[in-house]
Order: sequence, then structure tokens, then C-alpha cells
Amino acid sequence: MSAGYSFGKIILFGEHFVVYGLPAIVSAINKQAEIVVERKKEFPHELIDATKRFRGVPILTWQICHKPIEAVLKHLNIATPLRITLGGDLPIANSGIGSSAAHLVGLARALSEEFGLKLSDEQVNQTAFIGEKEIHGTPSGIDNTAATYGGLFLFKRNSSGKNLIKPIESRKPILIVIVESGVDTNTKQVVRAVRELKEKEPEKVGDLFNRYESLIQQAHEALEKNDLVLAGNLMNENHKLLQELTVSCPELDRMVEIARNAGALGAKLTGTGRGGLMVALTSGKDVQEKVADALLDAGYEVLVTSI
Ligand code: MEV
Repeated sequence: MSAGYSFGKIILFGEHFVVYGLPAIVSAINKQAEIVVERKKEFPHELIDATKRFRGVPILTWQICHKPIEAVLKHLNIATPLRITLGGDLPIANSGIGSSAAHLVGLARALSEEFGLKLSDEQVNQTAFIGEKEIHGTPSGIDNTAATYGGLFLFKRNSSGKNLIKPIESRKPILIVIVESGVDTNTKQVVRAVRELKEKEPEKVGDLFNRYESLIQQAHEALEKNDLVLAGNLMNENHKLLQELTVSCPELDRMVEIARNAGALGAKLTGTGRGGLMVALTSGKDVQEKVADALLDAGYEVLVTSI
């Protein structure tokens, strides 16, 4: 029996833009997935879901998860019957917190341990990416990279070579609030919708890309200087660009307003959009509590954590 661990993530800047090779900033959060693999005597494989989850997220079954898991097993040449238990304190969300990537990274690590594969972090990362493609179609790779390496970093996809990963040093934990909208979303579909918009309205989307490129440079500098006030303002700007990219929705906009009114330095949708999660940046414990309480009072599910 072997276990593998990995991080959840939150995108602070650049979801969707990252799919097209623009830089994004992502951070691991201090919630982990724990995957345990045990050899069984006979097929079929067995999957046990012992995870926490946001409201409305279905229990994960072999039926739901077999494609990415089988892709990982095939890639690693493993043909042994297994019992796989998903656990840890990272709550499963429909999207936004990198739970699928975190579980695939944890799985690759557990398999590496159990079968003596001695996978390097980069091999773990690539293995998880193969599983991610089964779920999300054309993922940028940001989620599995954050799940593998942790930390806060700038990520730039390179479709023909190595992705750029540039760590950003944060001098102390940054307190955030993650909030679930209760609106179901699907990364594959929303990524496809953005691609269609880009093809239909190239000028509009090109302009958004240009504005985003200037924003991400400033955001990178702000985080390197630990200027959370500027970073928060830029998150608000990033949310506007995502609205124009048509990936926000009334619920997310409402949550962002509530967070800002309660004192957040900045707030934006995070991950896929059109539902899913929002992230708010706060200046300290008191404000973090106020923001969390305001969103709880409004009926949302909240995760208080740090990056
Ligand atoms: C999903 O966490 C973020 C997206 O940018 C998709 C991706 O990067 O693969 C929407």
C-alpha cells in the first residue's frame, strides 16, 4: 500500500488567457489531496471516494473517473488490479481548485512509490497532464504544474516545448477566501466557448489579450514586491476582462461585489468561470473573517485558507 500527496491550486491571474500562451499567476493552497493505492487480487479496479466536497459535487465513482485513471495506468505500464482511495483535506469542486489535477498528481506519486518507478517531479507532472487531457480536452497544464510543485509562480504554456515556471517569493502567507457559486460549470465547454468567441470576434478578443498582457506584467511586479493592494486592484481588473471574455455570470459578479464591499483588496472568478469558484484577496485575518462571514450570510459555501 502506498500514498501520494499533492496541492490544490487557485489561479490569481490569467485563467483562459493561459490556454493561448499568455502568462498566468497561480498558487498552491494549503489543502492537500491524498491518494492511496493498494494491490488487489483480481480485476475490476476499485475506487473509494473519501474526500470532502463542495455542495452538489457528486461522489466520485469508477464510472466517472475511469478514463483519466486508465490513461495514467497505461502511460506508466501498470496492469495490476488496484484499490484506489481518494482522500485528504482538499475539497472536490466542479472546477476552480484544481482537484482533478491534484488527484492525478497524487495518484502518479502513489503509483511511483508502490511500483518502484522513481518518477521525478516532472515525470509526475507529465503523467498527471495525460490524465487531465482526458477530462478537460485541451488543458494549459497550469493545474497539474501547481499540484506538483506547489508555491506561487508565473506559468506560461509552451505548446512546442517546456512550459515556463517562474517562482514568486511571497514573504508571508497571503490570506484568501475561496467561495463556491453553487452554479455548475464545465471546463471543456467553457474553454471551447472562448475558442469560438476568439474565432468569431478576433479583434475584440485580440484587444482583451493586449490589455491582459499589460495587466499580468503589473501583477507579477506587484506580487514580487508584496504589494497586495495593487495586486487586489489588478484582480478586480482581471475580473472585468473575464466578464468581457464572457466567462463570468451574474452569481460570480454578485459574489465579487459582496467580497469587495466586505473589505477584500480584490476579488475575481477563478478557474473556469460561468459558475464554479471566486477568490478574494484580503489584507489580514480580520478582513478575511469579515469577507467569509458576508459570503456565508449570503448563503454561499466558503473555504478560508492561505497561499
Ligand atoms: C482551469 O483551471 C483554467 C483554464 O484556464 C483552463 C486551463 O488552463 O487548462 C480555464
